Amino acid sequence: MKNNFLRISLIGSILGVSLLTVAHAADPKPEEVVDYRQSVYTVIGWNFKPIGAMVKGEIPFDAAAVARHAQYVELMSKAALEGFSKGSGPDAVKDTEAKAEIWTNWDKFETAMKNFQQEAAKLTETAKGGDEAAIKAQFGKTAETCKACHKEFRKD
Ligand code: HEC
Repeated sequence: MKNNFLRISLIGSILGVSLLTVAHAADPKPEEVVDYRQSVYTVIGWNFKPIGAMVKGEIPFDAAAVARHAQYVELMSKAALEGFSKGSGPDAVKDTEAKAEIWTNWDKFETAMKNFQQEAAKLTETAKGGDEAAIKAQFGKTAETCKACHKEFRKD
């Protein structure tokens, strides 16, 4: 078995394909999908939090740091939706805070995601401009899109 696997992997690498990656992309387990989306949101939260702390004056305002964090939030906002494939809801996975309504109300969920993506993109744009007041205002707008989606589609 092991030898066969190694041989297949070797052929795979010669052909320039990773069999593991291919198998994964074709058929991720529901738990893996949940892991993926929770990781995406962990990265989002990790980068969003310090911007919030600056906006609240808890740490010194630094426009360059905001721009750097905002870029990751924007990037991850585009990566989140594919973490909600069908069959990865609370009926299939225990360890998720995603509500079943995501899949029964998909259009609304997708719209909530698009709103988030738009505001996150604007936050990056605004942050690059360096205008503190504008950055704070745009942070507020982006945070609203997090809250709106969590309120409706995430368990408390
Ligand atoms: C379109 C919906 C949507 C938007 C927009 C959204 N979230 Fe979430 N978020 C979710 C859902 C659903 C979960 C639960 C995922 C799970 O447990 O499977 C979640 C989970 C999280 C988590 C917990 C991750 C973990 O480790 O379990 C954090 C942190 C988070 N979101 C932060 C944010 C922040 C910050 C924003 C905005 C900048 C945001 N989210 C925008 C839907 C959204």
